[in-house]
Amino acid sequence: MLKDKLLDLREEALKSIQSADSVKNLRDIHVHYLGKKGPITEVLKGMGKLAKEERPVIGQLANQIRESIGTRIEDKKKTLEKKMLEERIKSEAIDVTLPGRKRAMGGHHLLASVIRDIEDLFIGLGFSVVEGPEVEEDYYNFEALNLPKNHPARDMQDSFYITDEILMRTHTSPMQARTMEKHKGKGPVKIICPGKVYRRDTDDATHSHQFMQIEGLCVDKNVRLSDLKGVLTVFAKHVFGAEREIRLRPSYFPFTEPSVEMDISCFKCGGHGCSVCKGTGWIEILGSGMVHPNVLRMSGFDPSVYTGFAFGMGPERIAMLKYGIDDIRQFYNDDMRFLKQFKRA
Ligand code: DAH
Repeated sequence: MLKDKLLDLREEALKSIQSADSVKNLRDIHVHYLGKKGPITEVLKGMGKLAKEERPVIGQLANQIRESIGTRIEDKKKTLEKKMLEERIKSEAIDVTLPGRKRAMGGHHLLASVIRDIEDLFIGLGFSVVEGPEVEEDYYNFEALNLPKNHPARDMQDSFYITDEILMRTHTSPMQARTMEKHKGKGPVKIICPGKVYRRDTDDATHSHQFMQIEGLCVDKNVRLSDLKGVLTVFAKHVFGAEREIRLRPSYFPFTEPSVEMDISCFKCGGHGCSVCKGTGWIEILGSGMVHPNVLRMSGFDPSVYTGFAFGMGPERIAMLKYGIDDIRQFYNDDMRFLKQFKRA
């Protein structure tokens, strides 16, 4: 019977529509059932054999079936498209609530912080910051500082020589001579010079073959020891606290006359005596003195017109005292556990 055949076709078509899983699938189903060569068209071709009164009934049914297959396909297409869109949204979704990737913020190395702090202080006192070569000429490292060849005091600083005349600088003092040369005999000269220095030492808790110094030099007319004392007092109070007192002890350096060493009153015990000051109440901080006339003369300054003071200090020592660090190697090992503690020092 044609009617049954049509109903079967409808059943079959609806089933395949239901199980269709893509838009392409649906298009194929559409072509198959509703196309010109499809089975429904085929059925309708056989209508000629039907009784007259049956024809409109079957015709109507065939049209209904066609229509319902068409709307089912459209409905299913919408469902599938919606599903596809949802899946795409899901797979391309960005979770805007995820916390961003954090960049680790660096901080200054403790030595850099200490040096910057001292630089800032001296800039405020009218000094300029200069830097010089770490590979230095024997002339600037020693001779121009009143340490001629074979001077016994050269032994105070065991050196890394590169040639007979070139070495790794053993201190930042050569910048005294280099800077004065540049000024061609005319003051004032007010500089500090931070930088690395090198000595033939075996590394241990208190020695390092490479460490840092900050050199200071002030040359002008009428510069006196009392000026040195004033500047060093300001420095001591700035770095170690407003209650600090200083004392100058006689000492010897070839490039200064007189030479002094500066001590500060102990910041730990206030001068009563403790382990930090080894019971003396005083802590040795730096070497200094009045620039030796020979040093002025060799770098083009007339010692009968100009006088000056100079000092040299070790930022490692200052940092170790101030922050209770007991091993100088901590500064160079790049151990983050150490460095992180001083991120904001
Ligand atoms: N250059 C000396 C050293 O390395 C430190 C020093 C002492 C520097 C006295 C100076 C000074 O300018 O006047 O041991």
